[in-house]
Amino acid sequence: MPLISGKLILDKANEFGFAVGAFNFNNMEFLKAILEAAEEEEAPVFVQTTESAIKYAGIEYLSGMVNSVKDSYRVPFALHLDHGRRIETVLLALRHGYTSVMIDYSHRPYDENLEVTRRVVSLCAPLGVAVEAELGRLVGAEDNVESREEVLVDPVQAKEFALRTGIDSLAPAVGTAHGVFKFKEEADIDFERLRKVKELTNMPLVLHGASGVYYEYVAEINRHGGDIKKAKGVPDEDIRKAVELGINKVNTDTDLRLAFMATLRRLLEEEKGSVDPRKFFKPAMEEVKEVVKRRIRLYGSSRKASLF
Ligand code: G3H
Ligand code: 13P
Ligand code: ZN
Repeated sequence: MPLISGKLILDKANEFGFAVGAFNFNNMEFLKAILEAAEEEEAPVFVQTTESAIKYAGIEYLSGMVNSVKDSYRVPFALHLDHGRRIETVLLALRHGYTSVMIDYSHRPYDENLEVTRRVVSLCAPLGVAVEAELGRLVGAEDNVESREEVLVDPVQAKEFALRTGIDSLAPAVGTAHGVFKFKEEADIDFERLRKVKELTNMPLVLHGASGVYYEYVAEINRHGGDIKKAKGVPDEDIRKAVELGINKVNTDTDLRLAFMATLRRLLEEEKGSVDPRKFFKPAMEEVKEVVKRRIRLYGSSRKASLF
């Protein structure tokens, strides 16, 4: 069971009350680590690329890798465009066999978000390609905002947006942020708002900015020349609660980057005599695989491949 529509995975996750991991990749090392971890956990999974990943590697390489290995795995997975900001990128993704896309106009006025998202649904639905959109904005510990109310999702608007666009999943902003600096103090997710969005929409929901930013990787990076001392992520118990309240897809990029870079920084100091990149990349890739497995277990999607 190889590459399938993101819609099939999301609907199953919503029906059975679990979340699938959606992991970002820019290169072979991350893609291989994600798919091997999913295979070992027997978990359905999303592999996803942003527009900057496409700019970095080229969509031919990214989709080419996925298409050439898709029959080597038994677990079902979707190839997803993460944070697509332009309709042209959506069309490019469709031409390269993506089975799910996000159109992200959350930074634009509501009416524009609605209109563009509707257009994307009209392009994707006939092809069976899933569409995700976002409402509200994700802001980090470093960003200045007047009030949280201004940036978090409005549950009533979420219901209207879902009905009028025909999207397959919605990413509501409930207080998380991308990157390593998510919170100044303690994690502060608006669970009540999330509960309300689920109650009103009853559709698959996506949590962005969900990385745990685990202390062991942060400490290792800081020990070996990095400087991310104020890093703070979403605690595991908050992820469990979010899944209980109806999150069905959890986006994770930073935790993979931290695992890879912590290993790389350590090895660069330990292996001063080696110039073979594989001596560095292989252990870093193994560490990414470990963190993907850990996250898959946390989301509750281990052994869920048998549902397909
Ligand atoms: O929003 C998701 C990512 O963590 C940011 O990814 O650096 O590839 O744009 P990017
Ligand atoms: P993190 O930065 O928390 O891993 O979030 C990733 C994400 O939301 C990708 O869309
Ligand atoms: Zn995101």
